[in-house]
Amino acid sequence: MPDTNLKPGWKRMLTGDRPTGPLHLGHYIGSLSMRVNLQDQIECFVLMADLHVLTTRTENLNEIGDNIRDVVLDYLSVGIDPKKTTIYLQSLVPEVLELFWLFMPLVGVPRAQRIPTLKDQVRDLHLESSSMALLSYPILQAADILMVKGDVVPVGADQASHVELTREIARRFNQTYGKVFPEPDAPIVPVLVGTDGQAKAGKSIGNVILLSDDAKTVEKKVRSMYTDPKRIRADIPGTVEGNPVFVYHDHFNDNEDEVNDLKDRYRSGTVGDVEVKTKLADAINRFLDPIRDRRAEFAARKGFVDDVIRDGSARARAECQKTLAEAREAMGLTYFRGAQKVEVGT
Ligand code: TRP
Repeated sequence: MPDTNLKPGWKRMLTGDRPTGPLHLGHYIGSLSMRVNLQDQIECFVLMADLHVLTTRTENLNEIGDNIRDVVLDYLSVGIDPKKTTIYLQSLVPEVLELFWLFMPLVGVPRAQRIPTLKDQVRDLHLESSSMALLSYPILQAADILMVKGDVVPVGADQASHVELTREIARRFNQTYGKVFPEPDAPIVPVLVGTDGQAKAGKSIGNVILLSDDAKTVEKKVRSMYTDPKRIRADIPGTVEGNPVFVYHDHFNDNEDEVNDLKDRYRSGTVGDVEVKTKLADAINRFLDPIRDRRAEFAARKGFVDDVIRDGSARARAECQKTLAEAREAMGLTYFRGAQKVEVGT
């Protein structure tokens, strides 16, 4: 299990998600639990990267709004506290686009083309070639991170190359213009195996249990989970290690004695899959119950989610304006300091 505890020197966490759909248990095991843990110790910013969604999508953009509200409810329901964590919407902080542009001259085209997620996206989305937006995706991400001077950016392994580029941009900016930015650390968060046994639970694959799934849905998904395929009868000894059903038991079943007993009997071929899975569904539902209660509570407070986004975005924006002013100052873009104050109209 990767170490997701606080390291000395970390002062500010920035991380985020593209609002492309509801969050799931994999997010919980990966980034959400770390965010909840860090918010009591250092300053935390969590952004919903709606502008990043545009790099791969040109249709159904009106759905992004619903996704944003769902994701905020997911955050709140797992215990991300808007009083401790600044939850904000990327597009409500337009300064990020200006910083993005200031970073663009610092990155060569071949360097951007070498980012591994770019090839993956072009392949997975069957694109003929990358758009300029997709090519620049990690540079916008660097602007997200450096805009708030984040020095710790917990991300999945697939995002590590983006934070590496962020470090390079920070270094190059500091060398070229003067020190403004930290070079952030990127602790890699753990992944959860998919319910179908694939290496990763991912919403686009559909092998996930959502934080917002009801009890019946959880039972159904657990019943069809992938398990040891060699075990066609209950009296055949089975393999526990790496078996998704037991990986989930280890993560979510708070009854350790029950888990150990099930493992022993599974190994010796004296327990049926039905019992193992029924107990897993019960455990996941016990785990999700308080999350569901909190979600229902927050969802019932009219306008609360929008207020969280509005307040958080205002707080983030103040921070970003400060950083942007420093960056412009360092670059010598000071010939018209009043530019931001120019009023439109009369
Ligand atoms: N690219 C990230 C993802 O798809 C989302 C993201 C956008 C992000 N900006 C960020 C993550 C800044 C960390 C920091 O998951």
